[in-house]
This record gives sequence, C-alpha cells and structure tokens, in this order.
Amino acid sequence: MNSVVQRVFAAVYDPMLARVERRGLAELRRHLLGSIDGEVVEIGAGTGANLEHYGDRVRRVVAVEPSPPMADRARRRRLVGKLDVEVVVAPAERLPLADASVDVAVSTLVLCSVRDVAASLAEVHRVLRPGGRFVLLEHVAGEDGMLRLQRFVQPVWKPLAGGCHLTRDPLPSLRAAGFDVADLRHVRLPLPGPASPGLVGTATRL
Ligand SMILES: C[S@@+](CC[C@H](N)C(=O)[O-])C[C@H]1O[C@@H](n2cnc3c(N)ncnc32)[C@H](O)[C@@H]1O
Repeated sequence: MNSVVQRVFAAVYDPMLARVERRGLAELRRHLLGSIDGEVVEIGAGTGANLEHYGDRVRRVVAVEPSPPMADRARRRRLVGKLDVEVVVAPAERLPLADASVDVAVSTLVLCSVRDVAASLAEVHRVLRPGGRFVLLEHVAGEDGMLRLQRFVQPVWKPLAGGCHLTRDPLPSLRAAGFDVADLRHVRLPLPGPASPGLVGTATRL
C-alpha cells in the first residue's frame, strides 16, 4: 500500500468498523482478551481497537503495526488507558522481540492481510514461550457457495479493504507452524457477508 492509501485507510478504519463493533465485534474482542495475562505481543494492531479490552492482569502489550498512520492512531489511543503499551512499526514477518519472550500473542483480523502467512506464524511461534497462547479472531475462507462468493468479490474487495484476502484458511498454516489448534472454532462474525466466516479462539504454541 502506498502512503496516501495507508493514510486514507487509517482515517476511515474506525468509522468503517463502528457498526460491526456495536453489533458484536467489540464483545468478541472483550471476551477473548479480558482474561489473558502476562507479556503480550499484538500483531497488526491497527488503530488499537483491542487496547481497551485487555484486562488488568496484562503486564505489557507490544503492539506491532507496519502502517505508520495506523500506528499513530494506536499510540494516541494508548494514552487514554493505564495499560503499559508500546507501539512499534514493524510487520508480523519480522517481530522486534527476543525468542520465547512473550506469554500471549494476539491477532485480530490480520492474517487476511499479512504478506506472508507462514513467515508471520513462524515469528509468532518464535517469540512465544513454549505453551504460550496465540489468541485469534480472524475471518477466513467459507465453504461451497460462500467460498464461490468470496472468490468472486475478492478482486474488488482486496484493494478497498487494505489488501485483505477473503479466501485464506489459516488452520493448516497454524498446524504447520507448530500450534495446537484444538481450541479454535469456526463462528459467524458480525462482519459484512463475505467476511463473516470466522475462526476464533486460542492456539497453543507446542
Ligand atoms: C483489518 S486491519 C485489523 C486491525 C486490528 N487488528 C483490528 O482488529 O482492528 C488489518 C491490519 O493488518 C495490518 N497488516 C497488514 N500487513 C501486515 C503485516 N505484514 N504484518 C502485520 N500487520 C499487517 C494492516 O496495516 C492493518 O492494520
């Protein structure tokens, strides 16, 4: 994405999501993030929509985001709460963290957009301590008619939605990267139709 598109996407992101946040996305974020604890890395943190949902037991969040205008918004939002947050401009494919240095990794609506899913998951695996949790809220490929619809709209959707792919299935990549995926489940997300098939829950770093 060039810098003008990045600035526009950052400016419209929160207003664009406001309705779906009210229709249940914010509640899902709270449910997933409210009970985690320890040192956290969040990949693709965007404008910081998750920051208000972390519970009191989180010691620190390193919010990693490659788009500078998104990261600026996350930094401004960070100042509102009392959570210890560091916002770093970097892609998920190159996390600026030491091996086995965090307890929890978080990815919400990000694996659809990263350039390289396998490299991003390898990085998450590297920085998580053994047994650490990877909390996911992702829209994914559907089945049958939904998958056909996703393939049909993707060429228009992708440039309008910041490079978002509708037809990714992260489950095989998660397994291949060394995660136990037993606690992930398929759900219907309160997102627009083609982005509604979701994968939500916690993968464990083996
Ligand atoms: C749909 S937004 C989700 C933002 C936020 N996680 C949320 O839940 O609202 C997708 C985010 O992924 C980021 N992104 C794109 N490529 C990425 C990459 N290679 N590594 C990490 N994040 C990336 C985008 O800049 C954007 O902030």
